[in-house]
Amino acid sequence: MNNAIDSSLTENRLFAVPADFAAQANLTANEFAELQQKAAHDPQQFWADLAHQHLDWDTEFKTVLDSSDAPFYRWFSDGKLNVTHNCLDRHLHDAQRHKAALIWEGEAGEVRTLTYAQLHREVSIFANALIHQGVKKGDRVAIYMPMVSEAVVAMLACARLGAIHTVVFGGFSAEALKDRLEDTSAVMLITADGAWRGGKKVPLKQHADQALLREHEHSVKRVIVLRRTGADIDMQEGRDIWWEEAVSGQSAVCPAPPMAAEDPLFILYTSGSTGKPKGVFHSSAGYLLWTMLTTRWAFDLKPEDVYWCTADVGWITGHSYVVYGPLANGATIFMYEGAPMYPQPDRFWEMIARHGISVLYTAPTAVRAFMKMGDEWPARHDLSSLRLLGTVGEPMNPEAWMWYFQQIGGGRCPIVDTWWQTETGGHMIAPLPGVTASKPGSCALPLPGISARIVDDQGDPVGAPDAGGYLVIEQPWPGMLRGVWGNPERYIESYWAKFNNRYYVAGDSARRDQDGYYWVMGRIDDVLNVSGHRLGTAEIESALVAHPAVAEAAVVGIPHEIKGEAVCAFVILKHQHQGDDRDELGAALRVQVTELIGAIARPDDIRFTDALPKTRSGKIMRRLLRSIARGEDVTQDISTLEDAGTLQQLGAQDKR
Ligand code: WTA
Repeated sequence: MNNAIDSSLTENRLFAVPADFAAQANLTANEFAELQQKAAHDPQQFWADLAHQHLDWDTEFKTVLDSSDAPFYRWFSDGKLNVTHNCLDRHLHDAQRHKAALIWEGEAGEVRTLTYAQLHREVSIFANALIHQGVKKGDRVAIYMPMVSEAVVAMLACARLGAIHTVVFGGFSAEALKDRLEDTSAVMLITADGAWRGGKKVPLKQHADQALLREHEHSVKRVIVLRRTGADIDMQEGRDIWWEEAVSGQSAVCPAPPMAAEDPLFILYTSGSTGKPKGVFHSSAGYLLWTMLTTRWAFDLKPEDVYWCTADVGWITGHSYVVYGPLANGATIFMYEGAPMYPQPDRFWEMIARHGISVLYTAPTAVRAFMKMGDEWPARHDLSSLRLLGTVGEPMNPEAWMWYFQQIGGGRCPIVDTWWQTETGGHMIAPLPGVTASKPGSCALPLPGISARIVDDQGDPVGAPDAGGYLVIEQPWPGMLRGVWGNPERYIESYWAKFNNRYYVAGDSARRDQDGYYWVMGRIDDVLNVSGHRLGTAEIESALVAHPAVAEAAVVGIPHEIKGEAVCAFVILKHQHQGDDRDELGAALRVQVTELIGAIARPDDIRFTDALPKTRSGKIMRRLLRSIARGEDVTQDISTLEDAGTLQQLGAQDKR
């Protein structure tokens, strides 16, 4: 994909599991081998045993996997449980009720701790408030909040009642929020007056008001508003209610009714190759089982750990590894509200030392950003509480891996590079910290029960070591997505159609080396990975074309030192705007993308052009644009290009 991959092609260092780590690991080499064997020999029994062992059921399941409507798979479908009973109530016995569930730190430094008993109480009260406001099982509730403990409370309160939450990342625009409110037909929105980010207030409520402006276009009846920044906001009579008012007088007793295993737990939007983001939805029991197990296996969580996943709850990583996985394990979670380098670049390291954080899970883009700030920032702090490090979101370049390993992990902490997706619910390919030796830049081996394959265009397994191909999963697993909200055809089309429903197609390419280790190379579709976040080129293009001066636009990714990939846009102006000031237009287009999607999608590079390279059938030749954007020589076959003159115009170095 970029430099990261170039250097990982020659990477062959191997870091053995430290013996003292292996000796205390949740999963030992023997247990791992046993699980692998059982999964291969009798997958249904394998999953059934894990589901019995790790979850509390109100009604035991008899059916493990129902494939009658494949690829719409159903897991444990005649069983019943409540997700929040498994995340909260079952930890309320004895002393564990007084264990910290959540330690939260605000950007300004204030700290709040909620024990399991307190979190349970807040969730129960807020669930009663939701009932009081008319929310029922199956209703969709949107959550557009800062990284505060109330965001977790809101998610769990929905789950307690069986309302389906859809969390919208606070960095997304009013327009993006509006799309999601419409697509889910949400009846309620939970938001805040604002969010703190880098010392500034992000006007969440203002965005929410804008999203809700045209009443006939959405079904939101109620907006619950948390006071966070104290910003001056409008409260709409009859629609908006303060969080404090909503919870006032509500009982702290709220039963956790049994839900069917397959009742949807949440919807989360993610970019695909075409059109608007897809609403991926997950089940209750299968999802919970998989997040719980992978948290236990990959992070080796122990009762005494203080665990910090730095993701925002607006992403799948925040759902699976800030909320559901760790709470199901009864862990202590640390949560931080604000910007990573605020007020200065050692904020993370200072908090790790002060809270005694032992397990840290973050993104390669963050590691690269910290690396760039210099070794002196982590060196100022005692990071000896750390015992395990994790990464997610994009391939980790070996250079950043080594820095993370040495400067943050002190050379003693295993690094788990976890490959997975919004759709997979939890980790799929990752080293087990007590079992698997690590190679910098590789996500190592599939987890027990996960049948990853690399296949060619025909769907045949690629035999030779290091040969690239499509990364696919052959057998269903409990944590898999259950569909695309309101659009079953898109589920088939996006994930299954390519190989006739034989495999789940992840959309990534990968290779496997002679030791069976997986090296993910990047997306094969028109999806960019900017700072570990998926962005569809089609979405950014349509945001650009929505500007009155723009006739056509094409977006490609270019390598970026910190973000991994950055957005490069080629823009054709309408005839009457050809003479407009290009700097001003560039600035206006960046604002346009920020307003329609969010700042993460803002192009780094905008190039105005008179033509785009197209095939005779009118398809934009993105591979050519990618080479041009990177300043590389165009070596591709351009026999299908309609007008070869376009290349010269774009300043391509034609060296064929
Ligand atoms: C990429 C994030 C390499 C990949 C959990 C995938 C990775 C997409 C890794 C999913 C990794 C995620 N190594 N690439 N360890 N983890 N990816 O849905 O391209 O936001 O398809 O889920 O991120 O992104 P998503």
